[in-house]
Amino acid sequence: MIQTAMLAEKNHSSKSLICACLLHDYGHFIIENPDLLVLESLDGKHENIGFNFLKNYFKPEVTEPIKLHIQAKRYLCRNKSYYNHLSNPSKISLKLQGGVMNDEESQKFISIKFCKDAIMLRKYDDGGKIPNAKIKKIDDYRDLITSQLISENEH
Ligand SMILES: [Fe+2]
Repeated sequence: MIQTAMLAEKNHSSKSLICACLLHDYGHFIIENPDLLVLESLDGKHENIGFNFLKNYFKPEVTEPIKLHIQAKRYLCRNKSYYNHLSNPSKISLKLQGGVMNDEESQKFISIKFCKDAIMLRKYDDGGKIPNAKIKKIDDYRDLITSQLISENEH
């Protein structure tokens, strides 16, 4: 997640998108029984779990791309070469996530306000899987994260 955020920063993305990248898999941390899901080949819908939690604290510019990041994967997989470059576990999870989007789903997806940010998030995520890469500390993002919180008077 930090590598994903670092790529977003490198590409001069907005603070909201950097924050979305940083938190996009937060759902994995709060899913109740992740091992059981894997065993039973179930999709834990971590994007929705993360979204439902984070939306209480963060702006939609942050949480909407998080909610949409699996849809973005399904959308991008319409491109054969994108699909072919997925890792095997990612190809397996794609099936559980609903598979490649059909024409109708893709039309609907590209009409959603934050679809472009979700697509960028997904692309940075693809590039952010380098083992042992030198990464920043989560604390380095403290100010950026704080700047993306819903302010008190918006509650
Ligand atoms: Fe994810």
